[in-house]
Amino acid sequence: MKPSDWKSARLVYFTGTGGTGRAALCLMKSLEKRGIKVNITELTRGTYNSSSDADLLIVLFPVHAANAPLPVYEWIESVSVVNKKPAVVISVSGGGEISPNTACRSGCIKRLEKKGYEVIYENMLIMPSNWIVPTPDGISARLLKILPVKIDSILNDIFSGIRYRSSPKFIDRILSKVFELEKMGAKTFGRKINSNSNCTGCGWCEINCPRENIKLINGRPVFDIYCVMCLRCIYCCPYNALKPGMLKCISIEDIEKRMEGILPPSVDESAKGYLWKGVREYLKDYDIQ
Ligand SMILES: Cc1cc2nc3c(=O)[nH]c(=O)nc-3n(C[C@H](O)[C@H](O)[C@H](O)COP(=O)(O)O)c2cc1C
Repeated sequence: MKPSDWKSARLVYFTGTGGTGRAALCLMKSLEKRGIKVNITELTRGTYNSSSDADLLIVLFPVHAANAPLPVYEWIESVSVVNKKPAVVISVSGGGEISPNTACRSGCIKRLEKKGYEVIYENMLIMPSNWIVPTPDGISARLLKILPVKIDSILNDIFSGIRYRSSPKFIDRILSKVFELEKMGAKTFGRKINSNSNCTGCGWCEINCPRENIKLINGRPVFDIYCVMCLRCIYCCPYNALKPGMLKCISIEDIEKRMEGILPPSVDESAKGYLWKGVREYLKDYDIQ
């Protein structure tokens, strides 16, 4: 079947703090505008429905330590084997297509191929970073603004039959494997989060943890060992009660509120150095007013 004949798509995504979720919804709208029927699944709380007869599979995930988060691999493990169905893999990162990120989709692609999918296209989106070094506000505003344009251009590629598979750097392939250790570290990360005196025992974290890893015991959150370090509980707690000191946690909605009506400074001004090289490259053809 040619891309122009596709009528339906299955969109599967994992999101922690909402960046990939925002991208997935944007992608869904854009697909629907093209007349494509979309079946969307968020990989959360064990709802890993694996059957679908859609013409195209699209998988989106946030980059975690130059890799995909565990729920994505668990989901692929659960899907039935297919016969050469087309698939697209889109990663969402804070840093863009720089080292060590260039191999971040390899594990996901390899696993999909083992299940019989033909990965015809891959790409990287950038959203405001939630990890260690926060994205400067002006850059975040730009990233959010151009998201629909980026997604439209990706879909234009896919539906006009353009195939794209990247060639990750050798060293990044190795680093991506080594960084899988992050998945072990993540298990204990949650256990180290303590609620502070802001905690009201409202249970938001228990209800919204995508891993069902938090239980309220005596009105306080207690973490089990299934944390994937998605940071949702920390970022989205309505009472800021789960903030570890090293992270500056700002939700996408907060950034939007802060940047309302402000023309962001130029990209070169606010994104200097290697860390933001991928972001500068990503934004270079897009000017926003
Ligand atoms: C545990 C963890 C590891 C991360 N590792 C990377 C990384 O290796 N490279 C990168 O560019 N961004 C990294 N990030 C940033 C996220 O990929 C980025 O903020 C993404 O937009 C988060 O998506 P989400 O809001 O859907 O969770 C990491 C974030 C977390 C929480």
